Amino acid sequence: MSKKFYITTAIDYANGSPHLGHAYEKVLTDIVARFRRMMGEEVKFLTGLDEHGQKVQMSAQKLGVSPLEVCDRLASEFQGLCRALRISNDDYIRTTEERHKAVVQDILQKLYDKGEIYKADYNGYYSVRQEQFVTEKEKVDGTWPEIFGEVTEVTESNYFFKLARYQDWLIDTIRANDQMIYPRFRSADVLQFLKEPLNDLCISRPKERLEWGIELPFDPDFVTYVWFDALTNYITAAGYGTDAFEQHWPADYHVIGKDILVPPHAVYWPIMLKALELPLPKHFLVHGWWLSSGSKMSKSSGEVINPLDLIDQFGADAFRYFVTREMNVGQDSEFSLDLFMSRYNSDLANDLGNLVSRLLNMGGRYTEGRVPPAEIEEAPEKQLKELWLKTSAELVPLFEDFQFHKALDRIFTFVSGINRYAETRAPWKLAKSETPADQAALRTSLATMAEALRLAVALLTPVMPEISDKIRGLVGAENFELIEGQLEWGNRLEGKALGEKTILFPRPERKVL
Ligand code: MSP
Repeated sequence: MSKKFYITTAIDYANGSPHLGHAYEKVLTDIVARFRRMMGEEVKFLTGLDEHGQKVQMSAQKLGVSPLEVCDRLASEFQGLCRALRISNDDYIRTTEERHKAVVQDILQKLYDKGEIYKADYNGYYSVRQEQFVTEKEKVDGTWPEIFGEVTEVTESNYFFKLARYQDWLIDTIRANDQMIYPRFRSADVLQFLKEPLNDLCISRPKERLEWGIELPFDPDFVTYVWFDALTNYITAAGYGTDAFEQHWPADYHVIGKDILVPPHAVYWPIMLKALELPLPKHFLVHGWWLSSGSKMSKSSGEVINPLDLIDQFGADAFRYFVTREMNVGQDSEFSLDLFMSRYNSDLANDLGNLVSRLLNMGGRYTEGRVPPAEIEEAPEKQLKELWLKTSAELVPLFEDFQFHKALDRIFTFVSGINRYAETRAPWKLAKSETPADQAALRTSLATMAEALRLAVALLTPVMPEISDKIRGLVGAENFELIEGQLEWGNRLEGKALGEKTILFPRPERKVL
């Protein structure tokens, strides 16, 4: 069995409805997954929901329902979002599933048997909101910062996972592997964190305080929670303990936001895997945040954009286009509805949408609804082909390097080039002339526009799968796969039927949001 390209998102907390940040991460991962499939690779794409923990237990208590009911509701919301966004995941993991509990318990037992986990007393301060122990050092001007909410002093026994013994190994591994973390500058954050001695990781909670977790196999009075539970999802879904595992593991990419790189993904996870004698994931793709009014969009910030509102009004592809065009992967980006509208109206409705309807309209009127032959090649055709040559040479490398915002910029520069070509050739004027030369130029201009559109949407496909398919259908092109020669100008569409004139990006009917 050959190894699949295995890509994952973070699993979302089941403590609030999905927002733009969650949606973005799924779109970003979906683009990589679709691109790889187009390149002929077999892909396994995993996303899911992180369901245990105190917050879920508390919100269930408040609502007077079971924690699982809260999770079921949110799982259907998050899965609904995936469908609405046309996310092509092959698996959706929920950490309350039996397959996951079994793997978590299995690895806990293995690590316990190897002496990597031990029990000790712990005395300290605990933040319920953050579900973590905090130290005096974290006080600001003598008081606990707002983000910790209520902080209480507790003394309890817990289980700890030994991290410190792997610290030097991890530093050497990260130093030796500068491709592991994208963007690369984030490796420095990890190494900075590793300059301080690592404390062992508390991995349990007594059941009397938290029931909603996975029971420790070696002590039924405790559950494991948060990272030991959550990170393990990646190997559960890869089929840990079964024959399928080798086909998936190591993961090629864990796609995560910058807030969960250090320490969970770049420190706890590699050490857990090392202790289990499993290979490390090959790469982390670390994206920035969507901000609103300058701060991270999150449930607690209050100002959240519900992606479903935008998808309802403008369609999944417009949403996917916007978040991809406006985010330089790795950096932060401020969400603005004005910018969304301006991208929708100018790039999508005007530049791309009008171009398609113009072509279909003229095809219907002048060439019996078929793509005519390209008969001549003069300066306007040569210029457009040159622009495509330049564009196409850049696109695959940009996709491979996650520079999707730039790739979209190049594709839409080419779309503007097609519009300019149409203005120069002005087929609507040529149609008024009877001369054979003008008639040949008319046919050529429509053929050229159709071929250019076929090429323009080729690499738009991973970002805007539905619109790209639709446009291909309208110009008579085949379903797309990035096989050899497909990005070459080939006037491949001669004789193909053009579709009916249609509006691809309608103006919104009601007030936006
Ligand atoms: N449950 C953990 C992850 C466990 S992975 C083994 C978690 N959940 S989360 O719901 O808070 O976040 C899920 C993902 O969404 C994270 O990668 C996070 O960075 C991302 N985002 C949450 N808010 C975000 C923005 N405002 N902008 C972009 N992405 C952000 O962390």
